[in-house]
Amino acid sequence: MKPCIQAIAFDAYGTLFDVHSVITLCSRKFPGEGAELSKLWRAKQLEYTWLRSLMGQYEDFWAVTESALIFACHSLSLACPTEIRRELMSSYLHLDTFPEVNSALGKLSQYKLGILSNGSPKMLAAVVANTGLKGVFTDVISAEEVKIYKSSPRVYGLASQHMGVPDDAIAFVSSNFWDIAGAKCFGLWTCWVNRGNLPEDDLGVRPDVTVDTLDGLVTVLGATPLP
Ligand code: LAC
Repeated sequence: MKPCIQAIAFDAYGTLFDVHSVITLCSRKFPGEGAELSKLWRAKQLEYTWLRSLMGQYEDFWAVTESALIFACHSLSLACPTEIRRELMSSYLHLDTFPEVNSALGKLSQYKLGILSNGSPKMLAAVVANTGLKGVFTDVISAEEVKIYKSSPRVYGLASQHMGVPDDAIAFVSSNFWDIAGAKCFGLWTCWVNRGNLPEDDLGVRPDVTVDTLDGLVTVLGATPLP
């Protein structure tokens, strides 16, 4: 049953912002390799966050993202001089939002809206500003505060601390199943935005609801009366 939600915390990358919008620039720099580079870059970025969390070796998300890019280029035998690397990295500050994001957030404005992300505060502030979403979120919360990455429970605990509502009144929304699993284990109500029509990972937990896009979340939560 849907609890009495007062606040919604969104994952950033892959949920609001399309990490694969870097493909265009990747393809321009490395014709024919754009999609593969983007895929490997993202996969390594996530892997490095988990490994660094396990090792107790936190580095901020910008550094992790850059290391992942270096590895991905290396692994595809693509020479990536500093200038190109800088350009590719800066595309992370100008990602596109998924097409329905702006209108869906508008329809959810009766809730307190926040971002809870592994992104560093600077990266998040930039991408939020560059996508015209400044002012939409009461809180843009970064894992940097606890120096460990999702899916550590310490990160999910930041949502109630910042948003000022109890854990059981927070909906956590992510397109990343591993992130949903972490939030659910922590105790948040979860909505998986299964943008890629993927099977669920077998991690012993399931999302409270699964939708295709944020429009589905509006359908599930949109009718909730104002408190
Ligand atoms: C986020 C990424 C990792 O936390 O999806 O925004």
